[in-house]
Amino acid sequence: MKAPIRVAITGAAGQIGYNLLFRIANGDMLGREQPVILQLLDLPQAQPALRGVAMELEDCAFPALQQVITTDDPRIAFRDAEVVLMVGARPRSKGMERKDLIAANGVIFSEQGRILNEVAARHVKVLVVGNPANTNALIAMKNAPDLAPCNFTAMMRLDHNRAITQVALKLFQPIQDIKKMVVWGNHSGTQYPDLSHAEIRGRKVIDVLRQNGWEGWVENEFIPTVQKRGAAVIEARGLSSAASAANSAVAHIHDWMLHSHHNDWVTMSVPSDGSYGIPEGVIYGFPVTCRNGHYQIVQGLEISELGHKHQLDSHRELLEERELVKHLLGN
Ligand code: NAD
Ligand code: LMR
Repeated sequence: MKAPIRVAITGAAGQIGYNLLFRIANGDMLGREQPVILQLLDLPQAQPALRGVAMELEDCAFPALQQVITTDDPRIAFRDAEVVLMVGARPRSKGMERKDLIAANGVIFSEQGRILNEVAARHVKVLVVGNPANTNALIAMKNAPDLAPCNFTAMMRLDHNRAITQVALKLFQPIQDIKKMVVWGNHSGTQYPDLSHAEIRGRKVIDVLRQNGWEGWVENEFIPTVQKRGAAVIEARGLSSAASAANSAVAHIHDWMLHSHHNDWVTMSVPSDGSYGIPEGVIYGFPVTCRNGHYQIVQGLEISELGHKHQLDSHRELLEERELVKHLLGN
C-alpha cells in the first residue's frame, strides 16, 4: 500500500472546489491506487458549507480517500502538504478583467505563501488557480523563499484545452489528434494561443487551414475566441467557469506528477528562465514536457515576428501586474 499524499485545496467550499474534490478523491489526479488525504481550507463563514462537502465526500466511499480535514487555518491545511491547489480567491464578474482582482486577492497569496514556506513539505508542488493566477503565483513564490521556485506554477491548462478544442471543432477532427498546442504568457486577455506548431496526425494544422483557405481564421477568430473564453462563460453562465477549471487543475497536476501526454507537450505557467526572450521574474505560460515529477520548457521552437510581438505584449502586462503588487513580493 502506497503512503498517502496530502493534498491541500484552498477555497474548497467554492464552485471550483465542488468540481475538483470529487475528481481528486476518485483518483483522477494522482491515480486510483494512490491514497490521498484532503486538507480543505476555506474562510470561517464557509465552514458549514465545507463540512457539508466533506460529508458528501465520505458518502462517495472513494477507496483512495483516506481522510478529509476541514479548516479555516492555513497552517493546518498546508502542514506537510505535497500538492497544494490555491483556488481560494474572489472570481471576477461581468465587465471585470482578471487583473482587477489583484487588490482583493494578492494579499491572500502573500499570507498563504509565507505559511507554505513554514509548514508544507519541502518538495511541495503548488498550482495557483485563483486570479490573476500568474501574478498570484509569483506572490506566493516570493513569500516562500525556502521552497524551490520551480515548484510554483499557475494554471494555463484551461486556455490550452480551449485552444485545442477550437482547432478540433474547426477541422471536424478528434481532440486527441491535435498535438503541440501552446498558449504563451499570462492567463488574461493578452495570452497568445499559438497554433503555429500544432500538428494533426503529423501534419501542420496551419497547412491544413491554408489548404482550406482558412488562414484568416487564426488571427480573426481562433486567437480572440480563446483569449476571451473566460469572459464568454461568465456572460453566459453569470458565473465564472468551474467544472472546466477543475478539470484543468486535475490535468495540470496529473501531468506534472505522473507524466505528460505521450508525444506531446502541455502549457504550464512556470517561472520564466529566459527561454524565448522572456526574462526571469514573471510566471509565464510555456510549452512543457513532464517526466519524473519535473517539467522542462520545450526549446527551439521557431517564433514568427508577429508571434514574438504577442509574447512580449503578454510579458509587458505581467510586468505591469508585478509593479502593482511589488509591496507583496517580500525582499
Ligand atoms: P468561488 O467564489 O465560488 O469560491 C472561492 C472560494 O474561496 C470561496 O469558498 C471563498 O470563501 C474562498 N476564499 C476566499 N478567500 C479565501 C482565503 N483567503 N482562504 C481560503 N479560502 C478563501 O470562486 P471559484 O469560481 O471557485 O473561483 C476561484 C478562483 O479561481 C477565482 O479567482 C477565479 O477567478 C479563479 N479561476 C481561475 C481559472 C484559471 O484558469 N486560472 C479558471 C476559473 C476560475
Ligand atoms: C477563466 O478563464 O474561465 C477564468 O479565469 C475565469 C475568468 O475570470 O475568466
